[in-house]
Amino acid sequence: MEITKRIEQLKKNNNAVILAHNYQLPEVQDVADFVGDSLGLSMIAAKTDADVIVFCGVHFMAETAKILSPDKIVLLPDRKAGCPMADMIDAEGLSALKVQHPQAVTLCYVNTSAEVKAHCDYCCTSGNALNMVKHILKSHDEIIFVPDKYLAQYVSVQIGRPLITWEGFCPTHARILPEDIMRARKLHPQAKVLVHPECTPELTRLADMVASTEKMCGYVHESSAMEFIIATEIGIIYRMQKENPSKHFYPASPKAVCPNMKRINLEKILWSLTDMDYQITVPEETMNQARGAIERMLKII
Ligand code: 13P
Ligand code: SF4
Repeated sequence: MEITKRIEQLKKNNNAVILAHNYQLPEVQDVADFVGDSLGLSMIAAKTDADVIVFCGVHFMAETAKILSPDKIVLLPDRKAGCPMADMIDAEGLSALKVQHPQAVTLCYVNTSAEVKAHCDYCCTSGNALNMVKHILKSHDEIIFVPDKYLAQYVSVQIGRPLITWEGFCPTHARILPEDIMRARKLHPQAKVLVHPECTPELTRLADMVASTEKMCGYVHESSAMEFIIATEIGIIYRMQKENPSKHFYPASPKAVCPNMKRINLEKILWSLTDMDYQITVPEETMNQARGAIERMLKII
C-alpha cells in the first residue's frame, strides 16, 4: 500500500490528527490535517478531540501541544528535531536574569523549553509578541523577553523603549543577509519583501512587511501584488505557491533552511504512528506552571 494511504489508515485507527508547521517538507504538509504557525497549531492542539497528535515541527512545538492537551498522546516523529534557539536558554540562566531584575515581568518566546516557560509570567509567539508587550506595559515598566534578541529588538523599536533580553537567535534566519534582499530586489523590482521578525534588524529595516509565518501567508493571499521576496525558512514557499498558483515567490536566500524542520518525512510519520513513538512527556508540575504562561497569552490575544 502507498505510504500516504497507510498513514491515513493508521490515523483513522488511532483517532490521530497530523499538525505540520509551515516550514515542513512539501509531502509532510500535504499529508497534514492542518498546516500553520506555532500559535495556530498550538490553538488547534488545545481544541482537537483527537486522541493522538502527530506534531510535525520541532520539539518545543510538540511540547506546547502536550502542555495544552495533557491527556492526549503527542508524538514527534523525529526525537532529534530540536530548535537551537530554544536550546540557547535554560531555567538556570533565566533565574539568574530574574535576580538582576526583580521587578520585571518575564515574557518568553514560545521557542523555549517547558522548563523555561514554567519560570515565566507570559508566553508569546512571533505573531503576537508586539501585542503581548504592549499589553504588559499597561501595568508594568520592565519586561524580560527571552531568548530571541532579534525579535526583542524588533518589538523594542516598534514600542520605542528597551526590553531586557537574552543573547539568543535563530541560526537559520540569521543566515539571511541585507545583500540577499538587495540582490533579490534588483532582480524582482515589483516584488514585496516579507521578513520574519527572527531576522536581524538590518533585514527588518528593509521589509515591506514584518510578520510571523501565518501572517505572511495571509498577506500574500490578500495582496494585489503578484511577486514576493520571502525572508524566512524556505519551506513556507511551498504552501504560498499552492494557495496562490498565479503569484510568484522568491526565497531571499536559498540558505535559509532549518535542518531540524527537515528531519521529519513520511516514513518517520508512518513509524511514529505505528509504534506510538516518540511520545512527548513533561513532569506534571513543570507542565502545570508552563501552562499558566501559555494560557495567560491565549486569554490576551
Ligand atoms: P512562527 O511562529 O512564525 O511560525 O515561527 C516559528 C519559528 O520557529 C520560526 O522560526
Ligand atoms: Fe528554531 Fe530557527 Fe528552526 Fe524556527 S527556524 S525552529 S527558530 S532554528
